[in-house]
Amino acid sequence: MQLVYLNGEFKPIAEANINVLDRGFTFGDGVYEVIPVFNRVVFRIDEHLKRLKNSLNAIFMEMPFNKDEWQEIFQQLVASVDANEQSIYLQITRGISEREHDISLANSPTIFAMSRPIKNADFSKGIKAITHNDIRWDYCHIKAITLLPSVLLRHLAKQHGAKEAILIKDGNVTEGAASNVFIIKDNVVYTTPETNDVLPGVTRSVILGLLKDNKFNVVEKTISEQELFDADEVWVSSSTWEIVPVTQLNDNKIADGQVGRLWQQVYDIYQQFKQCYCYS
Ligand SMILES: Cc1ncc(COP(=O)(O)O)c(C=O)c1O
Repeated sequence: MQLVYLNGEFKPIAEANINVLDRGFTFGDGVYEVIPVFNRVVFRIDEHLKRLKNSLNAIFMEMPFNKDEWQEIFQQLVASVDANEQSIYLQITRGISEREHDISLANSPTIFAMSRPIKNADFSKGIKAITHNDIRWDYCHIKAITLLPSVLLRHLAKQHGAKEAILIKDGNVTEGAASNVFIIKDNVVYTTPETNDVLPGVTRSVILGLLKDNKFNVVEKTISEQELFDADEVWVSSSTWEIVPVTQLNDNKIADGQVGRLWQQVYDIYQQFKQCYCYS
């Protein structure tokens, strides 16, 4: 039976309850991680835990466990799920306090984690994305649970028959509502640099590593909205989507509207890399 972890206990999800005064509920005061599990091995655990620590520290919280303690929790969760490919969802809030903004009122974090099978749609023919103003805040490097802008952006995308919203701030691409963005022009792969305007995606960094190992030309630089529309290929990446080709942007095709040659190569390299991923 699938078990979830809540504040030191493993239990069925129906028995995992949160106090209504939890600051995650009243203020969205917390952070999270999504960590893929391939071949039942937690993928890139060090990077995910590092990003979790950075997110926690940025909101004046401490990492509650060391790597071994997290590993032990993840192992039990993964063992309780009947699937080789899973994604761990982990959320830490500042815990319970009376409903006052003052963070010093909360002194015991709420720690929740669960693992679920990855159910991926087939995006190999490419997806449509919309572009939209980046309506989020100035701390997008924090993986904060306050996701209302992203929820609305994905809803707008859906209303336009699209799967993702690619966000534009001051004329430049930041990232997707829940993904990082790559463009390809003249065989060079470009992605936006890590700033406070983007989440430092772990998939992004895996892809960058694989591209460099395989001698692709890669440049991390600001991408203008115009460059996005003029690209030969556009990809978005995330832990659960991996690498997805964008073939339509609003009412425009990207290049000839077909999945690009480089995407197919990089997708194959990524799949191979995943299959070899038996040890963390
Ligand atoms: C805003 C945002 N950017 C980028 C990503 C991709 O990050 P990762 O590759 O670590 O899943 C996500 C993932 O959900 C995200 O929400």
